[in-house]
Amino acid sequence: MDGQILCVGDLNPDLVVPYGEMKRALRQDLPGPTAQLLPGGGMGNTVTALGRMGLRPLILGMVGNDSTGDMIAADLQKNGVDTRFLRRQQAPAMAVVSVIEEDGEKVFFQWFPPGGQDKAFTPADFSEPVLERCSLLHLNGMVVQDGGPSARAVTEFCELAAARGIPVSIDLNLRCAQYPLTPERRALLGRVLAVASHILGSGAEEWCTLTPGRTKEQAARRWATAQNTVVCRDGAQPVLLIDRLHESRHAPPPVEVVSRNGAGDMFDAGYLARLAAGGTPREAVFHGLAVAAHAISHRQPRSVPGPAELAHLLACIDP
Ligand SMILES: Nc1ncnc2c1ncn2[C@@H]1O[C@H](COP(=O)(O)OP(=O)(O)O)[C@@H](O)[C@H]1O
Ligand SMILES: [Mg+2]
Repeated sequence: MDGQILCVGDLNPDLVVPYGEMKRALRQDLPGPTAQLLPGGGMGNTVTALGRMGLRPLILGMVGNDSTGDMIAADLQKNGVDTRFLRRQQAPAMAVVSVIEEDGEKVFFQWFPPGGQDKAFTPADFSEPVLERCSLLHLNGMVVQDGGPSARAVTEFCELAAARGIPVSIDLNLRCAQYPLTPERRALLGRVLAVASHILGSGAEEWCTLTPGRTKEQAARRWATAQNTVVCRDGAQPVLLIDRLHESRHAPPPVEVVSRNGAGDMFDAGYLARLAAGGTPREAVFHGLAVAAHAISHRQPRSVPGPAELAHLLACIDP
């Protein structure tokens, strides 16, 4: 495939608070860990993984015009991401505070500095030169966050890309607790899904929120057409692939899970990388499963498999 994968979505600083580890240290009267500021965001995970796999993806996203924005931009570049369309927002940017409990569970909080604002796109962000470079457009449902101008600009861009013959893929990532599914948001998401070639999503909480259906499979089938691919994931359960109305199920390779954080984002990176290399949706699902399995069995965030590790994980997947 000529051109680059263009990822549109969330980038933010993550302030990681090792609360559980600190409690343990205090009990033993030992020096505790410190909190750490890391580059985060769901699309940050996907685009960084694509960069690490050598695909030179483009990111179209927003970071703060401050030291956290500098840190994220530098990290993207270091990992092989093309940042020519990275935007700096003028208002202070939102951060995520990620508290890790004693059992390793993570709890997330959004934090806005005084005067802070959520990211907002304008039609000017989606100019012609952006499309010219792009062979595949990937976004997540978070950027269609309401019925407002930013979500409308993203929706119209997807429609334009599809009209130009550029495949659009979306991972639902609805995050309805933060971004309620208003009728206006639902209508815009419906427009994106109508032009998307690849629709990915996870669990009943995403599929059944979006579509009436008793099970996630029933809800996912609602979006399947003779032209598109629907990928319905759910943690350790087999993935339901509906490729041009043909259904199959694929179980993840067995691994020891050390951190489930960002599993879906890493699946997306594997899936998109294989599509970009000319793979079928079925092969792309296998790669998604392998890259996700690698990521969740490593403590280091956004860890991607090397060729040998990838081959081993792929061999563990029952075709
Ligand atoms: N507990 C688990 N055991 C094995 N594989 C898992 C587990 N959780 C996630 N995965 C792998 O990661 C993929 C993405 O997980 P998913 O639940 O869809 O993530 P998210 O909720 O982050 O979107 C799954 O399809 C699977 O391949
Ligand atoms: Mg997800």
